[in-house]
Amino acid sequence: MAVTAVVALLLLLGVCRASHPKPSCRYPPSEWCRSLEIATACKVQKQCMEMNAIRQYPPAPKVNVTLYYESLCPYSRWFLTLKLLPTYILLSDIMEVKLVPYGNTQVNTAGSFVCQHGQDECDLDMITACVLHYLEDYSFKFWFVECLLSSTNILKDAKMCFETYTFYRSWEDVLGCFFGPEGMGLMHKYANDTRALRPQHTYVPWVTINGEHTDSLNEKAHTSLFLLVCDLYKGVKPGICTGSPTHLNRGYTFA
Ligand SMILES: *[C@@H]1O[C@H](CO)[C@@H](O)[C@H](O)[C@H]1NC(C)=O
Ligand SMILES: *[C@@H]1O[C@H](CO)[C@@H](O)[C@H](O)[C@H]1NC(C)=O
Repeated sequence: MAVTAVVALLLLLGVCRASHPKPSCRYPPSEWCRSLEIATACKVQKQCMEMNAIRQYPPAPKVNVTLYYESLCPYSRWFLTLKLLPTYILLSDIMEVKLVPYGNTQVNTAGSFVCQHGQDECDLDMITACVLHYLEDYSFKFWFVECLLSSTNILKDAKMCFETYTFYRSWEDVLGCFFGPEGMGLMHKYANDTRALRPQHTYVPWVTINGEHTDSLNEKAHTSLFLLVCDLYKGVKPGICTGSPTHLNRGYTFA
């Protein structure tokens, strides 16, 4: 890998160096991406990082995107499956996603949840809550949600979606959470998170970016979440954001 990256870097920079010599940096080109210090001294920090040859330390904070939504709201489903998750697949190195399936749900005087789109929606929100909780450390938890919300018979397909993407936990754990106090507790936590929103949400899906919701951020999130996240990321932007030719790597496989 490292050799491949250096070869590709030389291809990128070698010609430039020949015609525009830089102040010398004491290191031969083969060492340039060895550490952040050397890359900085040789002024190739950006190139090395874009090629993932070295990592920035400390890493810049990821861009936090939180989606407050309801499982059966069509526009929530559309945004989640066609905007948020595809963006996350491309930019998971620089973004963090949090899902809060609660939306306009209410709690009645008996303490039960009453969902906008009926009991099925409450069930789905809670199944999602339980799965997100059990798979907290695994990014494929979002694949479960994508599967769930793309399917046509989502309650029936929940188990199938879960088992497609999970080898570490059993569906029985999820059902235990769903039928027990744990699921209720998670929904109450989501209720609190949703009520704590400032400004309060007036519709769903409601997006916050780094905890903030403004008309401008909201519009950008809906037009191109991808560009918004790339734009807001304060660290060295990954190649996919800048369009830099990191794919050069793939042509050279003799590493
Ligand atoms: C995102 O959230 C994490 C954890 O809450 C925090 O450490 C980080 O600074 C946040 N990122 C930004 C860009 O605010
Ligand atoms: C939700 O907030 C209420 C008070 O605002 C608090 O009593 C309760 O413990 C919170 N529940 C959770 C699960 O955070």
